[in-house]
Amino acid sequence: MANYGTPSLTLVKGAGNKVTDASGLEYLDFLGGIATNILGHAHPAIIAAVTKQLGELTHVSNFYAHPQGLLLAEELQSLVGDPSARTFFCNSGAEANEAALKISRLTGRTRIVAFTNSFHGRTMGALSMTGQSSKRAPFKPLIPRVTFLPFGDVSALKRGINKRTAMVIVEPIQGEAGVIVPPEGFLAAVRDRCDRTGALMAVDEVQTGMGRTGSWFAYQQSGITPDIITLAKGLGGGLPLGATIGLGRAASLLQAGSHGSTFGGSPTSTAAALAAISTIKSEGILERVRKLGTFLIEEGRKLPGVKEVRGAGLLIGIELESDRAKLIQKKLEDRRVLVNAPNPSTIRVAPALVTTQSDVEHFLVTLRETLEDPS
Ligand SMILES: Cc1ncc(COP(=O)(O)O)c(C=O)c1O
Repeated sequence: MANYGTPSLTLVKGAGNKVTDASGLEYLDFLGGIATNILGHAHPAIIAAVTKQLGELTHVSNFYAHPQGLLLAEELQSLVGDPSARTFFCNSGAEANEAALKISRLTGRTRIVAFTNSFHGRTMGALSMTGQSSKRAPFKPLIPRVTFLPFGDVSALKRGINKRTAMVIVEPIQGEAGVIVPPEGFLAAVRDRCDRTGALMAVDEVQTGMGRTGSWFAYQQSGITPDIITLAKGLGGGLPLGATIGLGRAASLLQAGSHGSTFGGSPTSTAAALAAISTIKSEGILERVRKLGTFLIEEGRKLPGVKEVRGAGLLIGIELESDRAKLIQKKLEDRRVLVNAPNPSTIRVAPALVTTQSDVEHFLVTLRETLEDPS
């Protein structure tokens, strides 16, 4: 179907953060499958874990437990640092947010608060919480009673979140909107308003989670504890896997029979996720992500035609002085560097977390050449 438009390339193989197209040309992949291939392509730890798992047990349905699913739920509990954490596994970010929405209904309340320009997925529930009217408009009617507040505006929270609010869902950094970082204290203010009104606070870490911003989850940099965390993208190390983690009362609202997914949390995807987490730990990747992110932001700000560089870790938005992000994306592709343009003035980079200093330098040099190219 035509929903993705016509792709500019056909990619046939990859290694680390390089990919090769059907005509044999190699590219630096600074989009990482849109913030998904956290260990890059063909990482030996992922290949080993998945190959072993495929040889032992591929899929079992959720009538049965399997060690990889249990181990991953325990691992996530430990990364979240809260023994009350319980996980529901699914296959994607939209599904993780659908589960959060269903959990919120079990509080007995039905109203949802989300934020302008947010992105939570394309299924009807997740789309209903997505604050981008162009994506919503063709599919109305969506689910009712979702209110959008201005992202980053603390003064709007008091008016918008009240004792009828079931859940507030927020991205710690808005990825699809163009890597928009809220002002310091915004997440804490959302937490405070949820505490005062009894609303659940869900953080959508689909794009920001799994070390992408330099901590396991981006919310951990703001000192809050959410009630729900949704994950996907990087979680499966390149395989389809999503998760909805509930803490405290949100951990026990789903009861037997109330939700499910055939493939969710399959042995294969969870084995890949365990390998990805163990590699991030053993190779000190979080620290590297923080350093490379700071370098990228500082150096990016020196480039000609760049208005602002935002983000954290290896989720960076480079805002240009004019609306030529799509053109720059295409010119970078001609120079064999892949990025994308989530809005008309912003280039997003979200490379594999195994990216090296020299890859970042190559990216910056190529971006400078591209920005300076008058053609
Ligand atoms: C913050 C956020 N939430 C949810 C989603 C939807 O994830 P998926 O495409 O896996 O359904 C995305 C995808 O870009 C995202 O960035």
